[in-house]
Amino acid sequence: MKVRLIVRRWKQGWTRPRYDVFDVEADPEESVLDLIERVSLSTDRTLVFEHACHHGACGACGMLINGVERLACVTKVGEAARKGLLLVEPLRGFEVISDLAVDKSRMFSKYPAETQTLEPVAASLEKLYDCVECGVCYSACPIANTYGEYLGPSVLALAYHRALSDGVVPGSVAGSGGVWACHAAFDCSEKCPVGFKPGEKIMKLRRLLLGGRVKVS
Ligand code: SF4
Ligand code: FES
Repeated sequence: MKVRLIVRRWKQGWTRPRYDVFDVEADPEESVLDLIERVSLSTDRTLVFEHACHHGACGACGMLINGVERLACVTKVGEAARKGLLLVEPLRGFEVISDLAVDKSRMFSKYPAETQTLEPVAASLEKLYDCVECGVCYSACPIANTYGEYLGPSVLALAYHRALSDGVVPGSVAGSGGVWACHAAFDCSEKCPVGFKPGEKIMKLRRLLLGGRVKVS
């Protein structure tokens, strides 16, 4: 199939982004990431994008594909293209490093120190490891995008697992940037590529807190 790949470009020092157009022949079954990589290798080696595993496990390749947060390595060209058009842009809510690569330290810095010490002590924690830390939920969340203090969907979902295993959550989780800041839009759960369901977990954590079934440290 013929595809018009449009890539949002921005490099350090540029005053504004630009959109580059690449007309290419693509296999509908190939991934958007493979297509971008092919264009990069054949046409423009300055195109910057992140990738590692190529099978949806590392979370590196999150980006907007025709306006929707997806992992490019598990998104097929034929499924994502609209009338042959494929617009790829960096995730929202993060600083752009270059082109499609974003700085996710904003998300990682929100992980309360306590959640880093979780041990896999309960079956309920198994899902914890399904989060690939891709940042898609931050990009999709209207609060994470507009309220810098907000801990964000994945962090609060991790805190929910901590509440289940330890019966305690960090103070920040119950504070102004915690579970009560969520507006229950559920865009995070809709877009999460691994079904981690952060929105539902935030609601469950609220119920635990309201019922006094979890302590705040
Ligand atoms: S909760 Fe889902 S969307 Fe958010 S970082 Fe984890 S895997 Fe990505
Ligand atoms: S390259 Fe690892 S999730 Fe896409």
